[in-house]
Amino acid sequence: MSKIYGTGENKVKALDNVSFSIEKGEFVLIVGSSGSGKSTLLNMIGLLDRPTNGTVFIDGIDTTNLTDSQISSFRNKKLGFIFQFSNLLTDLTVLENVLLPREIARTNDSAEKNARELLKAVGLDDQINKRANKISGGQAQRAAIARGLINNPSIVLADEPTGNLDSVTSEKIIQLMKSMAKKLNQTFIVVTHDRQHFGDVDRVITIKDGKAFEGNPPSEMEVLV
Ligand SMILES: Nc1ncnc2c1ncn2[C@@H]1O[C@H](COP(=O)(O)OP(=O)(O)O)[C@@H](O)[C@H]1O
Ligand SMILES: [Mg+2]
Repeated sequence: MSKIYGTGENKVKALDNVSFSIEKGEFVLIVGSSGSGKSTLLNMIGLLDRPTNGTVFIDGIDTTNLTDSQISSFRNKKLGFIFQFSNLLTDLTVLENVLLPREIARTNDSAEKNARELLKAVGLDDQINKRANKISGGQAQRAAIARGLINNPSIVLADEPTGNLDSVTSEKIIQLMKSMAKKLNQTFIVVTHDRQHFGDVDRVITIKDGKAFEGNPPSEMEVLV
């Protein structure tokens, strides 16, 4: 797929004929310098925006032909998002924040029980009823991970999930994401500046000037077609 933003003089080719597939259960890192097109790529995979050309297939479904409302429902059911800033709603408790996507997906069966289990898994069982503005940055990011997993998504997308954290907290959040991925057998696609801290992962894709390469930059680079 390709993605072009703007027109005329303001035209930016953010993704240039990128093509690859990711298998179920893979833990994939997307790396590359600032402005290379990582967030654009993640936004296309996450169906937050549509490519200018090309197609995103998820679970064999060609998402090009889905209407906007089908896309929203597909996104809520299949995809989980974790962003750089936890984006918790500060007036709500930790538990209420984790339950938010469930409200959107309108499936409230045992939702609270799930949310409590996830909060326990991310080490926040003693913070459940605190307001989101009363917890630390690392705790907020843990809550954001639990929120990203609440709808039991097949694919979890994270854009610089540790970009706003100190290195000790980053390390913990990274280990947490890796262990959750393993435990839940979910596909994780993570954009990061923090390649080293992730250690062993299934796969690394490097984005450079809107093009995708397999492997770490620069020695392993091999163009994906
Ligand atoms: N909404 C947008 N409108 C116009 N240009 C954009 C938009 N989003 C990103 N870009 C441009 O596309 C390129 C890739 O951006 P981005 O995907 O955010 O890179 P990264 O996440 O790797 O830093 C950059 O040149 C950026 O300025
Ligand atoms: Mg980005």
